[in-house]
Amino acid sequence: MRQIPCTIAVLLAVALAGCAAALPPVLAADIAYAQQQWPESTAETLQQGRQRYVVRCSNCHALIVPSAHQPGRWRKEINEMSKRAHVLPLERDLILQYLVTQSRDATKP
Ligand code: HEC
Repeated sequence: MRQIPCTIAVLLAVALAGCAAALPPVLAADIAYAQQQWPESTAETLQQGRQRYVVRCSNCHALIVPSAHQPGRWRKEINEMSKRAHVLPLERDLILQYLVTQSRDATKP
């Protein structure tokens, strides 16, 4: 019996972390890539973009993995979706940095 509450806690934690966990983490290679386009990029700005993406972009539909689209498509989508999500320009730029960086190897448009 003593193990049941623990099992439930673990299941809950996994469920809550589910969506965000599927998003790629920010790695050193990502920072180097981002800085080619945004010299001011750091691990922190990319990490903030990742967090803002989770918070702002999961209200109406499931989070879309960055590799689902190429960077050019994200640049278009982010403008349209930022209006819908009422995202501020600064936040929009952070989210874009994260998405463009993480989708650089995507093959689908
Ligand atoms: C207010 C609701 C809403 C919010 C918030 C929202 N979206 Fe969307 N999104 C939609 C709807 C509705 C569609 C379906 C296609 C359409 O109507 O353009 C969509 C479609 C998309 C698509 C294209 C479909 C696909 O599967 O690739 C992308 C990419 C996207 N959203 C990204 C984002 C991003 C990035 C954010 C955060 C900045 C965001 N969305 C926030 C409503 C929203």
